Amino acid sequence: MRLVEKYRPKTFSDIIGQEKAVARIEALLKRGIGGRALLFEGPSGVGKTTTALVLARHLGIVRDNETLQVVQMGSNLDIRFYRAKEMDQRAVEELRDWLALSNWQAPYKMVIIDEAQTMTKGATDALLSVLETLPERAVVILTTTEAEALQDDLFGRQTPFGSRCIQVSFVKPSNAEIAERLVEIAFKECGNGATLPYREIVQEGKGNVRACLQLLETALVAR
Ligand SMILES: Nc1ncnc2c1ncn2[C@@H]1O[C@H](COP(=O)(O)OP(=O)(O)O)[C@@H](O)[C@H]1O
Ligand SMILES: [Mg+2]
Repeated sequence: MRLVEKYRPKTFSDIIGQEKAVARIEALLKRGIGGRALLFEGPSGVGKTTTALVLARHLGIVRDNETLQVVQMGSNLDIRFYRAKEMDQRAVEELRDWLALSNWQAPYKMVIIDEAQTMTKGATDALLSVLETLPERAVVILTTTEAEALQDDLFGRQTPFGSRCIQVSFVKPSNAEIAERLVEIAFKECGNGATLPYREIVQEGKGNVRACLQLLETALVAR
């Protein structure tokens, strides 16, 4: 298994560098997260999709052994994962019908719409009306990498869409945090004594944890 998948965080405490985002989510959990739509916004490779999955696990929707790939295949009937660019108006209507059905096993149904900035206008409008009548037993997570999209007429706070979502911001973890993680993973992979170019990897990865893990994998293979 690729390092990126093998070390994808499974719990909130596994997620590095997102204390604010995690605290926000934990506060929402206390107040009751049901019936809400969350917009996870931030740069690429910092844990947005992962955190959506961690939340699904926390809520008892996704089981421990279910990876992102399993969720994407659609075998878990309480969670749906959409790549936004594949989402048209028809798909949103079908989603609405699915939300109207009672939950299968879990206390909540979850919808993850990944890379939401790529959704068509038609799909966005249709989704807005779904969010307006979201059942209490459902949670919707949208992720988006385009911070600019938040200012424009799609996700801006002033827009009907933006005001319907709770914005959770993700940031680049610090180089020190990423380096610490890389050392930990390298240790698990090959024990002590691994002399790897951690500093170079972290510098080249520019705050993108996914990219850093890919570079680490290459370095481990080349050793
Ligand atoms: N904050 C983080 N803490 C720990 N690992 C992370 C973090 N962000 C990303 N990763 C690693 O990078 C991979 C990709 O992260 P992902 O959640 O898909 O990022 P995003 O959705 O923000 O692009 C994860 O599987 C994990 O291995
Ligand atoms: Mg993602």
